[in-house]
Amino acid sequence: MKKARIIGTGSYRPEKVLTNFDLEKMVDTNNEWITARTGIKERRIAADHEMTSDLAVNAARKALEMAETKPEEIDLVIVGTITGDYPWPSTACLVQDKLGAVNAAAWDVSAACSGFVYALASATQYLESGHSKKALVIGAEVLSRIIDWEDRNTCILFGDGAGAVVLEAQEGEQGVLSTHLHSDGSYWELLYQPGFGARHPASVSGIEQRLPFLRMAGNEVFKVAVRSLYDVAIEALDANQMTAKDVDLLFPHQANRRILDAVKKRLKLNDDQMYVNVDMCGNTSGASIPLALDEANRNGQLNEGDVLLFDAFGGGFTWGAALVRW
Ligand SMILES: CC(C)(COP(=O)(O)OP(=O)(O)OC[C@H]1O[C@@H](n2cnc3c(N)ncnc32)[C@H](O)[C@@H]1OP(=O)(O)O)[C@@H](O)C(=O)NCCC(=O)NCCS
Repeated sequence: MKKARIIGTGSYRPEKVLTNFDLEKMVDTNNEWITARTGIKERRIAADHEMTSDLAVNAARKALEMAETKPEEIDLVIVGTITGDYPWPSTACLVQDKLGAVNAAAWDVSAACSGFVYALASATQYLESGHSKKALVIGAEVLSRIIDWEDRNTCILFGDGAGAVVLEAQEGEQGVLSTHLHSDGSYWELLYQPGFGARHPASVSGIEQRLPFLRMAGNEVFKVAVRSLYDVAIEALDANQMTAKDVDLLFPHQANRRILDAVKKRLKLNDDQMYVNVDMCGNTSGASIPLALDEANRNGQLNEGDVLLFDAFGGGFTWGAALVRW
């Protein structure tokens, strides 16, 4: 059976940097608290003219260039996002148009911070089954537009960005070895955006109640995130008769440093087995794993044959892992 092999990566971070010191001037917080509780020092914020599809396209162009692939060769575009330009059409359709990927089917996946792993798992099925030959999978978010900038509990955590991979169906040892997805909708209210969807259509009172902004029960999310990220990582390793010792580089969803350290400790990984850039990016939701992957790739940190583990958790709750032979 052919495997879904990553043949190109790309990422994009908006230019504007928002530091913890900038946040000190916006809400009642301080750099020491944010650094100690989250490990985040700065995050990027999209310019007013930049939409999620723009971030996605910037990342995708770089991935296509690395993959030496023309947009018209792509037959599948899947975007993991919860901050699409519009409720509909999908951001994937906008990306398809901007890239000129005229031969692709395109759709979005809504799995919050697990969006990229969910999208990757979906594309893998199409590539392995022969329904797709070359796919573009993107995680892209402009979370700054759904953040309550008056809520110090949440506004310090998130950032904007995009990451993309081009996948090709190929024979051989390299590619996605397995994917593992889970969800538990009973937790939906711990991390969500109340408005404006069909449940709470747009209204002036809804704005007064701040419904269009992300809400989160941080403590409870934290506990389930650590457990789920660990469990699904072990599930992926077990499925491939591997242990944590076999992992060359873990790419966890960059939620916050304390979550990452807790997962690293439970998996008994060394520091150099886990990629971390949450300090410079904050939590970019669906974008975080492909953004980190592209950074590591372009820094020369990935070697052929390496075992990479993508490990994600997000609102829904959703969680999932993908084990990849690079
Ligand atoms: C959000 C999070 C950093 C908060 O850290 P915490 O250690 O749980 O902190 P708490 O919420 O218990 O708050 C502790 C105190 O700090 C205060 N506080 C909260 N945010 C603050 C901020 N930005 N600056 C300063 N103080 C703050 C609280 O009001 C509270 O004060 P009190 O003790 O006087 O009531 C942490 O819960 C977390 O990381 N959760 C996971 C979030 C996440 O990753 N979500 C996305 C998953 S995909």
